[in-house]
Amino acid sequence: MNDHVSQPSPFRTSQLEEADSAPRNRTGNPTMGEIISARFSRRGFLRGSLAVTAIAATVSPIALITADNARAAGGSSFTFDEVEAGVDDKHHVAAGYDADILIRWGDGLFADAPEFDPTKQTADTQRRQFGYNSDYIGYIPLDGSSEHGLLVVNHEYTNPHLMFPGIVSVVEGKIEQKPLTKEQVDVEIAAHGMSVAEIQKVDGKWQLVKDSKSNRRITADTEMLVTGPAAGSDRLKTNADATGTKVLGTVNNCAGGITPWGTVMSGEENFHGYFGGELAADHPEAANYERLGIPDGTYEWANFYDRFDVSKEPNEPNRFGWMIEIDPSDPNSVPKKRTALGRMKHEGAESIVAKNGRVVLYQGDDERFDYVYKFVTAGTFNPSDRAANMNLLDEGTLYVAKFAEDGTMQWLPLVFGEGPLTAENGFNSQADVVIETRRAADLLGATKMDRPEDIQPNAINGKVYVMLTNNTNRKDDQIDAANPRAKNAFGHIIEIAEADGDFSATSGKWEILVKCGDPAVAEVGATFSTETTKNGWFGMPDNCAIDNAGRLWVSTDGNSPKATGRTDGLWAVDTEGDARATSKLFFRVPVGAEMCGPIFTPNDETLFLAVQHPADGGEDWGAFGRRSYYEDPSTRWPDFKNDMPARPSVVVITKQGGGKIAA
Ligand code: FEO
Ligand code: CA
Ligand code: CA
Repeated sequence: MNDHVSQPSPFRTSQLEEADSAPRNRTGNPTMGEIISARFSRRGFLRGSLAVTAIAATVSPIALITADNARAAGGSSFTFDEVEAGVDDKHHVAAGYDADILIRWGDGLFADAPEFDPTKQTADTQRRQFGYNSDYIGYIPLDGSSEHGLLVVNHEYTNPHLMFPGIVSVVEGKIEQKPLTKEQVDVEIAAHGMSVAEIQKVDGKWQLVKDSKSNRRITADTEMLVTGPAAGSDRLKTNADATGTKVLGTVNNCAGGITPWGTVMSGEENFHGYFGGELAADHPEAANYERLGIPDGTYEWANFYDRFDVSKEPNEPNRFGWMIEIDPSDPNSVPKKRTALGRMKHEGAESIVAKNGRVVLYQGDDERFDYVYKFVTAGTFNPSDRAANMNLLDEGTLYVAKFAEDGTMQWLPLVFGEGPLTAENGFNSQADVVIETRRAADLLGATKMDRPEDIQPNAINGKVYVMLTNNTNRKDDQIDAANPRAKNAFGHIIEIAEADGDFSATSGKWEILVKCGDPAVAEVGATFSTETTKNGWFGMPDNCAIDNAGRLWVSTDGNSPKATGRTDGLWAVDTEGDARATSKLFFRVPVGAEMCGPIFTPNDETLFLAVQHPADGGEDWGAFGRRSYYEDPSTRWPDFKNDMPARPSVVVITKQGGGKIAA
């Protein structure tokens, strides 16, 4: 299993998400050098045994891992009865909990929304309905309530082979997909973006408030405003927008975050997939786009819309790849693309107020060998005046992380005019720095990571948790202390402690909380505690949540029968004391799906989860997944009706009889 490399799906939109494309970081940045790690395990070092440290330099990594596991002791602090890991066409939650379907792709968001009919879907119907492939979920309490709030959900991308009837055929055993029509592309555009949905607990069950004035769809066609250093840059100007500030839509909204003032952040991740056409090799944006894989042409939108064709609108890709901020309290508010936070394949921007009042947002750039970032606002959070915070994200400092071998780290500022970020290297303004964030970070010598996804500050224990999904392309001579496994198929989680407990600090310490994978297979090198059962380990940590007691919950992307013998799911992971790195399975998704969006209500009595792309999957899914498509899906979750396809949905979890999810 340690040799596992995902087999690609036959469908292009699935391949894009699997991130199996070539890594885009061609720099020779030392991943802290091409040093073979002198110390395979930071945990060994931090236990303070000089003997262990000395041994680490000389014995094989596997021997050291065994030593790690041998010392682990404490049982989980989570008292729920663990779910059995496995694979089938349904979801499973721990005994004693209800997992109800709250809202599905196609469900009407408005009183006048048409009934979902997958055989008659149009852009007009889809714009009135919940979008596809739910990912990040934000819960904004109304009047502080844990039983009435606004749910803000990202709709990351579309899988046409699972959405549209009649486009897939199997010819002599080979799968073929017809080109999409303009009408189908328009449905895709309307199924992207975000939903805002007012929800309320009535008689013990959560439900959508269908006639709420707050309900809203944001799509890949909704007008947005560009703010911050890149606003108005010539590099963002197009035929449709001479100002370089007005963009239509957002795409591939993956992870996200909630700000202290109650707005929602949403990261544009694999935006390269939406652009087609060809750019001349000597075009001024050629190097910029090459670093991001643009144009990729996975989606067929460029066939019908010139703005997605780089040969016709070469600047349009510079208008995507940003972190957007939306104000769910005002359904007419214009979403803002906050360019100060950089341009990359954004994951979340989970935030926390530092001791000095500045707001700190942690961000991952999800590609093999790309970076971990944080943004620190110049101004401070004003808890008594919401309006005073509404443009805080336009000024501040973007930093990229450099992890050192000795367990320390630095946050390197990406500031025009400092260090190598000058005209000599093609940066003539802070606009250039943020537009080409990756290249700026390359020049600063940032640490190349194993696909940084969600990053979550923990207000209770003062630490920060970094999900690193995996990186099977890392070679033996590319390992470093923060990315210590070559061909890292199962990912790991890093825990950061900022200097002096100050989230705005420019240095800190770090250690690996857990290296993921099956601890029973020595070569995998997993470091879950020995109290972790055969159900409790996982691969591919992706999103995460911290409950209000400060405990870590990890959701995954990429488990499958072939990879790990299990579906994705949600695991509760201890971080403190003897139980550290003990993990338990709480919820698992149906076949083909990915687990996204974990978030708790303020009272910890409700947990929202997103089940993304049920029924998707390639050869990794074996007999379960086959070549699953609309007419022959591997599951018809959650409706299980013959005329209904699988539907990405938000699941709401409560404890039977009431009380906190994890007491
Ligand atoms: Fe959309 Fe990195 O997951
Ligand atoms: Ca994800
Ligand atoms: Ca993912």
